[in-house]
Amino acid sequence: MNINRFILLAAAVMAASCSGTSSVRSAIPVDNDIESKVEKVLRGMTLEEKVGQMTQLNATVIADGTNITPKGDSLLRNHKVGSVLNAPGDGAQTPEDYCKFISELNAISIEASGIPTLYGLDHIHGTSYVAGGILFPQEVNIAATFNREHAYNMGKVTAYESRAADVPWTFSPTMDLGRNPEWPRMWESFGEDTYVNAQMAVAEVKGMQGDDPNHVGPFNIAACAKHFMGYGVPVTGQDRTPSSIVASELREKHFEPFKEALQAGALSLMVNSSSNNGVPFHCNTELLTKWVKEDLNWDGMIVTDWADINNLYTRERVASSKKEAVKMAINAGIDMSMVPYDCSFSTDLIELVNDGQVSMDRIDDAVRRILRLKFRLGLFDQPDTKLEDYPEFGGEAHAKLAYDAAVESMVLLKNNGILPLRSNLRILLTGPNANSMRTLNGGWSYTWQGHGASKPEFTDKFNTIYEALQTRFSNITYVPGVEYDLNSTKWKFDQDTGIKAAVKAARKSDVIIACIGENSYCETPGNDVDLNLSANQKKLVKALEDTGRPIILILNEGRPRIINDIVGHASAIVDVMLPGNYGGDALAALLSGEENFSGKLPFTYPKYTNKFAVYDYKPAENQTTMAGSYNYNAVMDVQWPFGHGLSYTQFEYSNMTVSHDSFKADDVIKVTVDVKNVGEVTGKESVLLFSTDLYATLTPDVRRLRAFEKVELAPGQIKTVEMEVTAKDLAFVNYYGKWTLEEGEFFLSVGNLEHKLTCTETVVWEEPNID
Ligand code: BGC
Repeated sequence: MNINRFILLAAAVMAASCSGTSSVRSAIPVDNDIESKVEKVLRGMTLEEKVGQMTQLNATVIADGTNITPKGDSLLRNHKVGSVLNAPGDGAQTPEDYCKFISELNAISIEASGIPTLYGLDHIHGTSYVAGGILFPQEVNIAATFNREHAYNMGKVTAYESRAADVPWTFSPTMDLGRNPEWPRMWESFGEDTYVNAQMAVAEVKGMQGDDPNHVGPFNIAACAKHFMGYGVPVTGQDRTPSSIVASELREKHFEPFKEALQAGALSLMVNSSSNNGVPFHCNTELLTKWVKEDLNWDGMIVTDWADINNLYTRERVASSKKEAVKMAINAGIDMSMVPYDCSFSTDLIELVNDGQVSMDRIDDAVRRILRLKFRLGLFDQPDTKLEDYPEFGGEAHAKLAYDAAVESMVLLKNNGILPLRSNLRILLTGPNANSMRTLNGGWSYTWQGHGASKPEFTDKFNTIYEALQTRFSNITYVPGVEYDLNSTKWKFDQDTGIKAAVKAARKSDVIIACIGENSYCETPGNDVDLNLSANQKKLVKALEDTGRPIILILNEGRPRIINDIVGHASAIVDVMLPGNYGGDALAALLSGEENFSGKLPFTYPKYTNKFAVYDYKPAENQTTMAGSYNYNAVMDVQWPFGHGLSYTQFEYSNMTVSHDSFKADDVIKVTVDVKNVGEVTGKESVLLFSTDLYATLTPDVRRLRAFEKVELAPGQIKTVEMEVTAKDLAFVNYYGKWTLEEGEFFLSVGNLEHKLTCTETVVWEEPNID
């Protein structure tokens, strides 16, 4: 490091520390009426009732299907349980059954403690646990649209349809950065980038909660930002294993989406099950209490993930008993424990308070946050909602929004001109993903592992790829060649059920559409140690290659499977990821040319299993050979970069203007660029604005996404796209964990255009960066 710069920086750090932190407004405005109601209820509560509010049980503990059992009834009453989660029974239930079940639960809760329950479900891409509800594409697809409207719509529809089933709370959005494709939950997030995760999460939270987080109302629900934080970068790539994120990156990249979502009003937060640099998140006082509750002045509620207080003892081994784990987590700032199978948490916590190891103040703070959430949701006035008040549930208007999102989410990775496909061609449709609703939806679809989507009662009315293609192409032969067991949770299994037959059929066709990828999975069962496309699927594609017929590869997968040895031969490749129930229809419309592609990759598609990468890598990761005798080079070699995605038309960028050639820390930089559709058909283009900091005291990222806007253009049409970047957006977090904007040169780039500008002051400040 240049020593003069270091001294300057150190001086600036001290100056910032001396001036203290900036004043912090409340992330959610304080509502005095709600606060006095909370205090009134709290004053009348016993310790047992308070701890009961902090307890969350799984539905299967208290009910058989949607019938509350006598044992469940007495657990709820004796322990005054404050919250219940999950689909009762085996996956999705009807909205009618939920309404009956949750209203009975509420009646018991209110009788036992005067407080309604808080029911939560994992509605992470629509109403995944309510039969007949609308399923959107998964979050990774929503990110690929680079269109905030789809995140908003998904949030709004999910809220409305959850309330139709009397459910006021959902564990979504997920805003872990999907930066390690081995991680089996990559598809649950908005991809690898901080800004995309933040923007999409904020839009989804607004869609779910509406505009006033203090009065959420009967058509909205409470969001739960999860999993706080760094969950997407486990060192081993396996679910719920440790990460080792350095302090600067933790704050700059992983915290930002959470900060934005909480400041936008997200009413609850779920914690990452694992640990970072040895400290499990569930007992990290600095992160839970200081960063979230104090620094952001956020008065929402923090819930654990599944059994994660106990896991401090059994898995993480930072506590030497169950009871010590409870003490650590509650003292660190956890408000509600997703226990989820028994009430020993309550017994332990009561003892800890009586022994003086957990203070009554901490309990009161937790309970205030829970009661506040219940008041904000209006549950005290109207504990239950009724299906008949939700006529749009599962209806056409909602379905159209899910379809539109699916269309905009599919990414055309390669096209030698074969697409759009002529309708009179003889098509061989093959591959294990060609005729399955399960693989289109992925995990968290009717059941946890997603196999519920194979049940006709849930998905019969939707079109698989095969069914959808038949509506547009008349000459299709379907021979799967390789198949999964679609009713089993053994998702890794596939078998050759007729590769030879597929090859034979290919010889009689003009074009092959091979639908390959993954079967559905979720969380730890989705762990995998080899990201190569399965051996059988590769064998199928290779055998088809030998026929000499053009091949179109359709990738239907939650994370990028390595396919570099079949990319070259393919005439076209489309990554549909996990597009949901309308994915088959969307793909058919795109392949036929009725719709145009506009999705872009929200992650870097790797080329090799030993070389994963993200787009915001460091300069040293991509270096030409150094002068002299040693070959110190580094090569960034990926299959497709972040932001890649083709269209049936082309766009030309020109006239980039930037309001500043030099700027200071408080400036807002305005960028405009003309985008022209120079092709023959209408298309949508996501305009991505990147910044590059040329030199910095911490080795800078090569690029960072700072803004995006999506525009639709008819052939020949030009639109001027305006975007803004605040100077502070160009800052990074330094080695000491402080936000730092440094003097020096930057580039802003859009498409193939770039503009150099100079920052003329160095400023260092503390989190939170709240205006
Ligand atoms: C998952 C969470 C989910 C919770 C409740 C956990 O296993 O990690 O994402 O919200 O279960 O179902």
